[in-house]
Amino acid sequence: MTGTRVHGIDALWPDCLAVAHARRSGDARQAAHDAALVYAEGQGWQLASRAGQGWDDEACQVFELLKPLLDRPPGGDSWVLGQLGQSLNGCIATHGGDANFVNGPEVLTHLHRLRALSDAVIVGAGTAALDNPQLTTRRVPGPNPVRVLLDPGLGLATTLKALSDGQAPTLLACDATRAAQAARRVGADQVLGVEGLVDAQGAIAMAPLVAALHARGLSVLFVEGGGVTVSRFLSQSCLDRLHLSVAPVVIGGGRPGLQLPLHASMRDCPRPPARIFSLGQDMLWDLDLSAARR
Ligand SMILES: NC(=O)c1ccc[n+]([C@@H]2O[C@H](COP(=O)([O-])OP(=O)(O)OC[C@H]3O[C@@H](n4cnc5c(N)ncnc54)[C@H](OP(=O)(O)O)[C@@H]3O)[C@@H](O)[C@H]2O)c1
Repeated sequence: MTGTRVHGIDALWPDCLAVAHARRSGDARQAAHDAALVYAEGQGWQLASRAGQGWDDEACQVFELLKPLLDRPPGGDSWVLGQLGQSLNGCIATHGGDANFVNGPEVLTHLHRLRALSDAVIVGAGTAALDNPQLTTRRVPGPNPVRVLLDPGLGLATTLKALSDGQAPTLLACDATRAAQAARRVGADQVLGVEGLVDAQGAIAMAPLVAALHARGLSVLFVEGGGVTVSRFLSQSCLDRLHLSVAPVVIGGGRPGLQLPLHASMRDCPRPPARIFSLGQDMLWDLDLSAARR
Protein backbone atom coordinates (compact mmCIF):
# COMPACT_ATOMS: atom_id res chain seq x y z
CA MET A 1 0.00 0.00 0.00
CA THR A 2 1.41 3.38 -0.93
CA GLY A 3 0.91 6.41 1.37
CA THR A 4 -0.22 9.89 0.34
CA ARG A 5 2.65 12.03 -0.94
CA VAL A 6 2.57 15.34 0.96
CA HIS A 7 4.02 18.48 -0.60
CA GLY A 8 5.23 21.54 1.31
CA ILE A 9 5.82 25.22 0.69
CA ASP A 10 8.91 24.50 -1.45
CA ALA A 11 6.66 22.81 -4.02
CA LEU A 12 4.07 25.61 -3.90
CA TRP A 13 6.21 28.75 -3.89
CA PRO A 14 7.63 28.52 -7.46
CA ASP A 15 4.06 28.40 -8.78
CA CYS A 16 3.06 31.44 -6.70
CA LEU A 17 5.96 33.30 -8.33
CA ALA A 18 4.86 32.05 -11.76
CA VAL A 19 1.31 33.33 -11.20
CA ALA A 20 2.62 36.78 -10.18
CA HIS A 21 5.01 36.82 -13.14
CA ALA A 22 2.19 35.94 -15.56
CA ARG A 23 0.04 38.74 -14.13
CA ARG A 24 2.84 41.28 -14.54
CA SER A 25 3.49 40.09 -18.08
CA GLY A 26 -0.20 40.35 -18.95
CA ASP A 27 -0.43 36.64 -19.74
CA ALA A 28 -3.73 34.82 -19.52
CA ARG A 29 -4.28 33.23 -16.12
CA GLN A 30 -4.22 29.72 -17.49
CA ALA A 31 -0.76 30.33 -18.93
CA ALA A 32 0.76 30.19 -15.46
CA HIS A 33 -1.00 27.00 -14.57
CA ASP A 34 1.18 24.03 -13.67
CA ALA A 35 1.40 21.30 -11.10
CA ALA A 36 0.76 23.12 -7.81
CA LEU A 37 -1.98 25.62 -8.70
CA VAL A 38 -4.99 25.41 -10.98
CA TYR A 39 -7.24 28.28 -12.05
CA ALA A 40 -10.98 27.83 -11.83
CA GLU A 41 -13.29 30.49 -13.30
CA GLY A 42 -15.26 32.14 -10.49
CA GLN A 43 -13.03 30.64 -7.79
CA GLY A 44 -9.59 31.90 -8.74
CA TRP A 45 -6.44 29.94 -7.98
CA GLN A 46 -6.79 26.66 -6.11
CA LEU A 47 -4.28 24.19 -4.73
CA ALA A 48 -4.12 21.27 -7.15
CA SER A 49 -5.40 18.06 -5.64
CA ARG A 50 -4.41 14.78 -7.19
CA ALA A 51 -4.98 11.21 -6.20
CA GLY A 52 -2.32 10.10 -3.72
CA GLN A 53 -0.96 13.63 -3.24
CA GLY A 54 -1.65 16.31 -0.66
CA TRP A 55 -0.33 19.50 0.88
CA ASP A 56 1.04 19.97 4.38
CA ASP A 57 -0.52 22.44 6.84
CA GLU A 58 2.06 25.16 6.20
CA ALA A 59 1.55 25.07 2.43
CA CYS A 60 -2.25 25.21 2.86
CA GLN A 61 -1.96 28.18 5.23
CA VAL A 62 0.47 30.11 3.03
CA PHE A 63 -1.78 29.52 0.02
CA GLU A 64 -4.88 30.76 1.89
CA LEU A 65 -3.01 33.87 3.03
CA LEU A 66 -1.67 34.67 -0.43
CA LYS A 67 -4.74 33.73 -2.48
CA PRO A 68 -6.31 37.25 -2.50
CA LEU A 69 -3.08 38.59 -3.98
CA LEU A 70 -2.58 35.70 -6.40
CA ASP A 71 -6.11 36.21 -7.73
CA ARG A 72 -5.38 39.73 -9.02
CA PRO A 73 -6.06 39.74 -12.77
CA PRO A 74 -3.48 40.82 -15.36
CA GLY A 75 -3.97 44.48 -16.27
CA GLY A 76 -6.37 45.00 -13.39
CA ASP A 77 -7.07 47.99 -11.17
CA SER A 78 -4.70 48.88 -8.37
CA TRP A 79 -4.84 46.55 -5.38
CA VAL A 80 -3.29 47.69 -2.11
CA LEU A 81 -2.29 45.56 0.86
CA GLY A 82 -1.07 47.17 4.09
CA GLN A 83 0.75 45.53 6.97
CA LEU A 84 1.80 46.32 10.50
CA GLY A 85 3.49 44.11 13.05
CA GLN A 86 2.43 45.21 16.48
CA SER A 87 2.67 44.43 20.17
CA LEU A 88 -0.28 43.35 22.32
CA ASN A 89 -0.75 47.02 23.22
CA GLY A 90 -0.75 48.24 19.62
CA CYS A 91 2.82 49.53 19.23
CA ILE A 92 5.00 48.91 16.16
CA ALA A 93 8.36 50.01 17.64
CA THR A 94 9.86 51.38 20.83
CA HIS A 95 9.66 55.10 21.54
CA GLY A 96 13.11 55.52 19.97
CA GLY A 97 12.08 53.64 16.83
CA ASP A 98 13.54 50.17 17.44
CA ALA A 99 11.37 47.65 15.56
CA ASN A 100 13.94 44.82 15.28
CA PHE A 101 12.04 42.64 15.70
CA VAL A 102 8.48 43.00 16.88
CA ASN A 103 7.43 39.76 15.14
CA GLY A 104 8.98 36.33 14.88
CA PRO A 105 10.74 34.83 11.84
CA GLU A 106 7.55 33.34 10.38
CA VAL A 107 6.02 36.80 9.95
CA LEU A 108 9.27 38.19 8.53
CA THR A 109 9.31 35.43 5.91
CA HIS A 110 5.66 36.21 5.13
CA LEU A 111 6.59 39.86 4.51
CA HIS A 112 9.32 38.83 2.11
CA ARG A 113 6.83 36.60 0.25
CA LEU A 114 4.47 39.57 -0.05
CA ARG A 115 7.31 41.69 -1.41
CA ALA A 116 8.14 39.04 -4.02
CA LEU A 117 4.53 38.88 -5.27
CA SER A 118 3.93 42.65 -5.25
CA ASP A 119 4.88 45.14 -7.94
CA ALA A 120 6.00 47.79 -5.45
CA VAL A 121 6.64 48.06 -1.71
CA ILE A 122 5.91 51.43 -0.08
CA VAL A 123 7.27 52.80 3.20
CA GLY A 124 6.93 56.18 4.89
CA ALA A 125 9.80 58.57 5.46
CA GLY A 126 9.96 57.73 9.18
CA THR A 127 10.54 54.04 8.44
CA ALA A 128 13.03 54.83 5.69
CA ALA A 129 15.00 57.17 7.98
CA LEU A 130 14.92 55.05 11.15
CA ASP A 131 15.22 51.51 9.72
CA ASN A 132 17.20 52.20 6.53
CA PRO A 133 15.51 49.08 5.07
CA GLN A 134 16.66 47.21 1.95
CA LEU A 135 13.08 46.12 1.12
CA THR A 136 14.38 43.11 -0.81
CA THR A 137 13.36 39.45 -0.80
CA ARG A 138 16.38 38.03 1.03
CA ARG A 139 14.39 35.40 2.93
CA VAL A 140 12.69 33.78 -0.08
CA PRO A 141 13.49 33.14 -3.74
CA GLY A 142 11.78 35.70 -5.96
CA PRO A 143 12.13 39.11 -7.57
CA ASN A 144 12.57 42.32 -5.61
CA PRO A 145 9.69 44.79 -5.94
CA VAL A 146 10.13 48.41 -6.94
CA ARG A 147 10.89 50.25 -3.69
CA VAL A 148 8.88 53.42 -3.03
CA LEU A 149 9.99 55.83 -0.31
CA LEU A 150 7.22 58.32 0.44
CA ASP A 151 9.11 61.51 1.26
CA PRO A 152 6.97 64.62 0.66
CA GLY A 153 9.36 66.73 2.78
CA LEU A 154 12.46 65.59 0.84
CA GLY A 155 14.30 65.12 4.14
CA LEU A 156 15.65 61.61 3.53
CA ALA A 157 19.40 61.12 3.23
CA THR A 158 20.49 60.15 -0.27
CA THR A 159 22.84 57.57 1.26
CA LEU A 160 19.95 55.33 2.38
CA LYS A 161 20.42 51.72 1.19
CA ALA A 162 17.29 51.75 -0.97
CA LEU A 163 18.54 54.85 -2.80
CA SER A 164 22.11 53.71 -3.24
CA ASP A 165 22.55 49.90 -3.14
CA GLY A 166 21.31 49.21 -6.69
CA GLN A 167 19.59 45.98 -5.63
CA ALA A 168 16.21 47.01 -7.10
CA PRO A 169 14.65 50.10 -8.67
CA THR A 170 13.70 52.77 -6.13
CA LEU A 171 11.34 55.72 -6.45
CA LEU A 172 11.36 58.68 -4.10
CA ALA A 173 7.73 59.83 -4.11
CA CYS A 174 7.00 63.51 -3.57
CA ASP A 175 4.54 66.10 -4.80
CA ALA A 176 4.95 66.95 -8.49
CA THR A 177 5.77 70.54 -7.54
CA ARG A 178 8.96 69.30 -5.85
CA ALA A 179 10.01 66.72 -8.43
CA ALA A 180 12.77 68.88 -9.94
CA GLN A 181 14.23 69.50 -6.48
CA ALA A 182 14.10 65.76 -5.74
CA ALA A 183 15.74 64.96 -9.08
CA ARG A 184 18.71 67.15 -8.22
CA ARG A 185 19.20 65.06 -5.06
CA VAL A 186 18.71 61.48 -6.28
CA GLY A 187 18.51 61.68 -10.09
CA ALA A 188 15.36 62.01 -12.19
CA ASP A 189 15.07 58.25 -12.75
CA GLN A 190 14.56 57.74 -9.00
CA VAL A 191 11.82 60.37 -8.61
CA LEU A 192 8.06 59.90 -8.76
CA GLY A 193 6.46 63.35 -8.82
CA VAL A 194 2.81 62.85 -7.89
CA GLU A 195 0.18 65.42 -8.94
CA GLY A 196 -1.95 66.28 -5.90
CA LEU A 197 0.06 64.32 -3.33
CA VAL A 198 0.17 67.27 -0.91
CA ASP A 199 -2.67 69.80 -0.62
CA ALA A 200 -2.45 73.47 0.35
CA GLN A 201 -2.79 72.58 4.05
CA GLY A 202 0.03 70.02 3.82
CA ALA A 203 -2.27 66.97 4.02
CA ILE A 204 -1.01 63.94 2.10
CA ALA A 205 -3.40 62.09 -0.23
CA MET A 206 -2.75 58.44 -0.99
CA ALA A 207 -5.12 57.95 -3.96
CA PRO A 208 -2.93 60.10 -6.27
CA LEU A 209 0.12 58.04 -5.26
CA VAL A 210 -1.71 54.79 -6.05
CA ALA A 211 -2.81 56.24 -9.41
CA ALA A 212 0.70 57.46 -10.28
CA LEU A 213 2.16 54.01 -9.58
CA HIS A 214 -0.60 52.36 -11.64
CA ALA A 215 0.30 54.65 -14.54
CA ARG A 216 3.82 53.15 -14.35
CA GLY A 217 2.43 49.61 -14.49
CA LEU A 218 2.72 49.05 -10.74
CA SER A 219 -0.73 47.87 -9.67
CA VAL A 220 -0.24 45.41 -6.80
CA LEU A 221 1.11 47.54 -3.97
CA PHE A 222 2.39 46.48 -0.55
CA VAL A 223 2.41 49.23 2.11
CA GLU A 224 4.84 47.91 4.69
CA GLY A 225 4.76 50.73 7.23
CA GLY A 226 5.07 52.58 9.38
CA GLY A 227 2.03 53.41 11.47
CA VAL A 228 1.48 56.93 10.14
CA THR A 229 1.64 55.80 6.51
CA VAL A 230 -0.58 52.72 6.87
CA SER A 231 -3.06 54.82 8.88
CA ARG A 232 -3.21 57.39 6.08
CA PHE A 233 -3.97 54.67 3.52
CA LEU A 234 -6.62 53.15 5.81
CA SER A 235 -8.38 56.36 6.82
CA GLN A 236 -8.49 57.46 3.16
CA SER A 237 -10.09 54.12 2.14
CA CYS A 238 -7.08 53.24 -0.01
CA LEU A 239 -6.45 49.71 1.32
CA ASP A 240 -8.02 46.53 -0.04
CA ARG A 241 -6.59 44.38 2.74
CA LEU A 242 -4.61 44.81 5.93
CA HIS A 243 -2.39 42.23 7.62
CA LEU A 244 -2.01 43.01 11.32
CA SER A 245 0.48 40.64 12.96
CA VAL A 246 0.13 40.71 16.74
CA ALA A 247 3.15 39.50 18.71
CA PRO A 248 3.03 38.39 22.36
CA VAL A 249 5.12 41.34 23.52
CA VAL A 250 4.30 44.60 25.32
CA ILE A 251 6.10 47.79 24.25
CA GLY A 252 5.80 50.48 26.90
CA GLY A 253 5.45 54.00 25.51
CA GLY A 254 6.12 52.74 21.98
CA ARG A 255 5.31 54.17 18.58
CA PRO A 256 1.64 53.62 17.76
CA GLY A 257 0.38 51.43 14.95
CA LEU A 258 -3.01 52.50 13.60
CA GLN A 259 -3.93 56.10 14.40
CA LEU A 260 -7.44 56.83 13.13
CA PRO A 261 -10.15 59.48 13.47
CA LEU A 262 -12.41 59.31 16.53
CA HIS A 263 -15.59 57.22 16.60
CA ALA A 264 -18.24 58.37 19.03
CA SER A 265 -20.04 55.06 19.35
CA MET A 266 -19.25 51.39 18.85
CA ARG A 267 -22.02 51.23 16.26
CA ASP A 268 -19.90 53.41 13.95
CA CYS A 269 -16.69 51.41 14.34
CA PRO A 270 -15.83 49.36 11.25
CA ARG A 271 -15.72 45.61 11.81
CA PRO A 272 -14.41 44.27 8.48
CA PRO A 273 -14.52 40.59 7.52
CA ALA A 274 -11.47 38.96 9.10
CA ARG A 275 -9.47 35.75 9.00
CA ILE A 276 -6.89 34.71 11.60
CA PHE A 277 -3.67 32.84 10.92
CA SER A 278 -1.20 31.50 13.45
CA LEU A 279 2.39 32.27 12.39
CA GLY A 280 4.82 30.92 14.99
CA GLN A 281 4.11 32.80 18.21
CA ASP A 282 2.23 35.59 16.37
CA MET A 283 -1.38 35.92 15.26
CA LEU A 284 -1.95 37.50 11.87
CA TRP A 285 -5.30 39.22 11.32
CA ASP A 286 -6.15 39.40 7.61
CA LEU A 287 -8.75 42.14 7.23
CA ASP A 288 -10.81 42.45 4.04
CA LEU A 289 -11.35 46.18 3.48
CA SER A 290 -12.61 45.93 -0.09
CA ALA A 291 -16.14 47.10 0.81
CA ALA A 292 -14.79 50.47 1.96
CA ARG A 293 -12.13 50.85 -0.76
CA ARG A 294 -12.57 53.81 -3.08
N1 LIG B 1 6.39 46.77 13.19
C1 LIG B 1 6.21 47.08 11.92
O1 LIG B 1 5.49 46.40 11.18
C2 LIG B 1 6.88 48.29 11.36
C3 LIG B 1 6.85 48.51 9.98
C4 LIG B 1 7.46 49.64 9.48
C5 LIG B 1 8.06 50.53 10.34
N2 LIG B 1 8.07 50.28 11.67
C6 LIG B 1 8.63 51.27 12.61
O2 LIG B 1 7.76 52.37 12.57
C7 LIG B 1 8.48 53.56 12.85
C8 LIG B 1 8.18 54.58 11.79
O3 LIG B 1 6.78 54.67 11.61
P1 LIG B 1 6.02 56.04 11.70
O4 LIG B 1 4.60 55.74 11.84
O5 LIG B 1 6.67 56.89 12.75
O6 LIG B 1 6.35 56.75 10.31
P2 LIG B 1 6.15 56.34 8.79
O7 LIG B 1 4.75 55.98 8.52
O8 LIG B 1 7.19 55.37 8.40
O9 LIG B 1 6.53 57.70 8.04
C9 LIG B 1 5.70 58.86 8.13
C10 LIG B 1 6.09 59.68 9.31
O10 LIG B 1 7.51 59.94 9.31
C11 LIG B 1 7.73 61.33 9.57
N3 LIG B 1 9.00 61.71 8.94
C12 LIG B 1 9.20 62.41 7.80
N4 LIG B 1 10.52 62.52 7.55
C13 LIG B 1 11.15 61.92 8.57
C14 LIG B 1 12.52 61.72 8.88
N5 LIG B 1 13.50 62.15 8.07
N6 LIG B 1 12.82 61.05 10.01
C15 LIG B 1 11.85 60.58 10.83
N7 LIG B 1 10.53 60.74 10.58
C16 LIG B 1 10.20 61.40 9.46
C17 LIG B 1 6.52 61.98 8.95
O11 LIG B 1 6.32 63.24 9.51
P3 LIG B 1 5.62 64.38 8.60
O12 LIG B 1 4.31 63.83 8.14
O13 LIG B 1 5.50 65.50 9.55
O14 LIG B 1 6.57 64.63 7.48
C18 LIG B 1 5.42 61.03 9.33
O15 LIG B 1 4.97 61.28 10.65
C19 LIG B 1 9.93 53.16 12.89
O16 LIG B 1 10.32 53.07 14.23
C20 LIG B 1 9.98 51.81 12.24
O17 LIG B 1 11.02 51.04 12.79
C21 LIG B 1 7.49 49.19 12.20
